[in-house]
Amino acid sequence: MHGVDANAPPTKGPDAGSRFRGFHEVSIPDTGQRIACAPGENILRAMERLNLRLIPVGCRGGGCGVCRIRVRCGKYVTRRMSRIHVSAADEAAGIALACCLMPQGDLEIEVLGSGTSNPMSTVNPLQG
Ligand code: FES
Repeated sequence: MHGVDANAPPTKGPDAGSRFRGFHEVSIPDTGQRIACAPGENILRAMERLNLRLIPVGCRGGGCGVCRIRVRCGKYVTRRMSRIHVSAADEAAGIALACCLMPQGDLEIEVLGSGTSNPMSTVNPLQG
């Protein structure tokens, strides 16, 4: 039988390889969970829209720092983030606030937030 499987991942274009047509796939390899994030939508909002509880939620506006994540791979943009919660070294290491981060393609992330803000946190160069 010939035809196009509407549920098959696209093989061309910006969604190539993604299971979420028209969305960016945000995967958390440590838990095997995924979030379908609409273009322009931040990760925390997408997670809440899907009624998932994968990343700690606080102020939703970049003010508390509980939603810290590290992007392992993939392209993204962020809104301006407070240096109290994400230092320049953190940002260079892929650390960001999920409520301020909009994927530009599929991402792999690691959840760092534990429900409390840690403004003194820095990147340990020995942990890569
Ligand atoms: S939820 Fe408070 S900084 Fe993201």
